[in-house]
Amino acid sequence: MNLAAIQQYLDFAYVAAIVLFILSLKWLSSPRTARWGVIAGEIGAALAVGATLFNPELVQYKWIVITLIIGAAVGIPLGMVKMTAVPQRTALSHSFGAASAAMIGIAEYYAGAPHVTRFQMGEIGLEVIIGSLTFTGSLIAAGKLQEILPQRPIVYRGQNIVSLTVLGSALLLAILMVINPAQMWLFPVMVIVALIFGILLVTPIGGADMPTVISLLNSYAGFSAALLGFVLNSKVLIVAGALDGSSGFILSVIMCKAMNRSFTNVLFGAFGQVTASTKAAKEERPVRSASPEDAAGILGTAGKVVIVPGYGMAVAQAQHKVRELYDVLTKRGVDVQFAIHPVAGRMPGHMNVLLAEADVPYDHLKEMDEINGDFAQTDVALIIGANDVTNPAAKTDKSSPIYGMPVLDVEKAHTTMVIKRSMNPGFAGIDNPLYYMDNTLMLFGDAKAFVTNIVKELSNHD
Ligand code: TAP
Repeated sequence: MNLAAIQQYLDFAYVAAIVLFILSLKWLSSPRTARWGVIAGEIGAALAVGATLFNPELVQYKWIVITLIIGAAVGIPLGMVKMTAVPQRTALSHSFGAASAAMIGIAEYYAGAPHVTRFQMGEIGLEVIIGSLTFTGSLIAAGKLQEILPQRPIVYRGQNIVSLTVLGSALLLAILMVINPAQMWLFPVMVIVALIFGILLVTPIGGADMPTVISLLNSYAGFSAALLGFVLNSKVLIVAGALDGSSGFILSVIMCKAMNRSFTNVLFGAFGQVTASTKAAKEERPVRSASPEDAAGILGTAGKVVIVPGYGMAVAQAQHKVRELYDVLTKRGVDVQFAIHPVAGRMPGHMNVLLAEADVPYDHLKEMDEINGDFAQTDVALIIGANDVTNPAAKTDKSSPIYGMPVLDVEKAHTTMVIKRSMNPGFAGIDNPLYYMDNTLMLFGDAKAFVTNIVKELSNHD
């Protein structure tokens, strides 16, 4: 086969990969089609990588095979981490992606230098700066989430000026190189300055905001890959990078909205500080608690139950028991729905994924806006390991750090039951007035154990 024919086949494979990436994003937006989204993305990536391996310009496979083996050896165990560790794992993946984009940009520069055109230099400079800062920024984010690094925001006077000066210096170096791409000594300095900026960008942000930051870093890694596509003249990389970059950005905006935060607020680390100062304000008022038997009695006689899962359900890995509870209640004729808050848990879609894993029917998962109107007609709102996303202070207390964050109106249900282990606060570190309300019953215990006992009790009285 001649080269032109091979190129045509490769171009066709790339176009097919691009179509699959777009379909993948479309399908990933609904739990019903999400599995297809994952499969389409995987096939698209396999097509793009496969087509690249058949590129006639490839002279030898030795290094590709070696790096594929190393990549698989690192990637397979990383893919098997616990669900609750997915945010830090994602941050690590972004750092690897960004590092590879930066390194390819560096290699491209040195392969062409000093005869790089100004336009190419501009592309390479920007791409390497974004890739480098995303690499170190993502490493810091992963370290904070894994608690290897302090989660608190590390802030000092004049921080923003220092950070902006460092970023400005990296951009200035890139501009100097565009003016004269032959100044090869400037290039490593620019890379180092960009790496330092990545550290400065993320260290002032509290652990609380890391998931949003990761999503933002994801978008940076995508844009860096898109720029790399221009450098390498690879259309598939331009499109895939642009899709990654824009979807990551949109996700960050959605997360900020769901937490009623602005981007600047996230990026300048105010949340963690507020959290620390409000932790002390925990109330000592009495609460009403109940046993699994009491809870089973109330649930078994209810007409409509809304289950509100949160981070504690993920920690306890209680989703399969929750599914059993759903089954046993449904069998009794109880209408059971699930209320999904957009930032329940620690990553976007956390609850959807867990409940899908336990085969809870998708049409019973209701988004916050869809279900909030139903709480007034609900007999029992059963909160399982959720806290902040049910905190009514977000609606009423202007001094609350989560004031303005949209929350689930669980207190409107006739009875609200809360499964958690203690009176400890959730992610935002603040007390929840819901627990002291007259119609609230606290069910103290581990989510999995407590739900297991409720299911046992209900099954015994079937
Ligand atoms: P949280 O407010 O973090 O509350 C989780 C609750 O689960 C805790 O109060 C904890 O109480 C309880 N818990 C922990 N382990 C448990 C176990 N084994 N059994 C039973 N309960 C357990 O969770 P949420 O309501 O899901 O809210 C999520 C928070 O994360 C929000 O503040 C949100 O802004 C933030 N956030 C989310 C995201 C995304 S994208 N999801 C991103 C960034 C930030 P005990 O210790 O008393 O058991």
